[in-house]
Amino acid sequence: MATITGATRVFGILADPIAHVRTPALFNALLEEAGVDGVMVPIHVASNELASLWQGLRAMKSLGGLVVTVPHKSAILDLCDEVGDAARAIGAANVVRRTDDGHMICDMYDGKGFLEGMRAQGRDPAGRSVLLVGAGGAASAIAFALAEAGVESLTIANRTEAKAADLVARLSRHYPDGRFAVGQAVAGGHDIVVNGTALGLRPDDPLPIDLEGAGSDTIVADIIMKPEVTPLLAAARDAGLTTHGGIHMLRAQLRLLAEFVGALPRE
Ligand code: ATR
Repeated sequence: MATITGATRVFGILADPIAHVRTPALFNALLEEAGVDGVMVPIHVASNELASLWQGLRAMKSLGGLVVTVPHKSAILDLCDEVGDAARAIGAANVVRRTDDGHMICDMYDGKGFLEGMRAQGRDPAGRSVLLVGAGGAASAIAFALAEAGVESLTIANRTEAKAADLVARLSRHYPDGRFAVGQAVAGGHDIVVNGTALGLRPDDPLPIDLEGAGSDTIVADIIMKPEVTPLLAAARDAGLTTHGGIHMLRAQLRLLAEFVGALPRE
């Protein structure tokens, strides 16, 4: 790691638990590669202490910004002075910029990260029929990004169907011309299928998507990045389908997060 001086910009990641997070290592490598005098440090804080910590962070002049993860993604909306459009629509944010006068501005990049990760692999979802499984924070962010990208249709499947219906209603309000529907987690008839749930983290999890009926050019994407090849991706490979791992979303998003907090110039 580069030497820390009195001029080094500090960035933090807020989480609880925090020991498992991969963002600081990747973020610091990105800054070092770009020759930026900055460092990201873990800031372990429980939900009931977040508000009191916040006052200190506002006062910290060397703080450039924060990456925010579980369980604080929704709570920070009320603590920030400005909330970006994506975060407002989704109801959660994962990055905060601190301005020189201590204003805190947040936004949500899970969706944009997913989209950029797809595009970086030459897999633009514009004009495609997409199935997204999940309706939680990450899936909502991805759904809004896919709608913004101009997918031909977006079907949402979720264990708790009411949450899928709620997400479809929110999407329809924001994109009145979009084609959104609640459906089943079955790949047939879709160009791209995306696992936006936590299924696949544990080896005994069931497959989140039934690959039955998938055409040979179907793209199967997962947001889980550990293991790198999830059981869903392994099944897709066995079936001869194109796979898209979760690491693409993290890598694409890192750059966007670094730009948002001002650690890197916007491209
Ligand atoms: P995140 O911020 O990672 O999206 P979340 O908001 O808690 O986390 O959402 C988790 C998603 O994974 C939800 O879509 C959840 O389905 P429910 O809405 O029915 O809870 C889904 N999920 C988690 N465990 C699941 C399981 N065992 N089977 C099916 N879906 C599951």
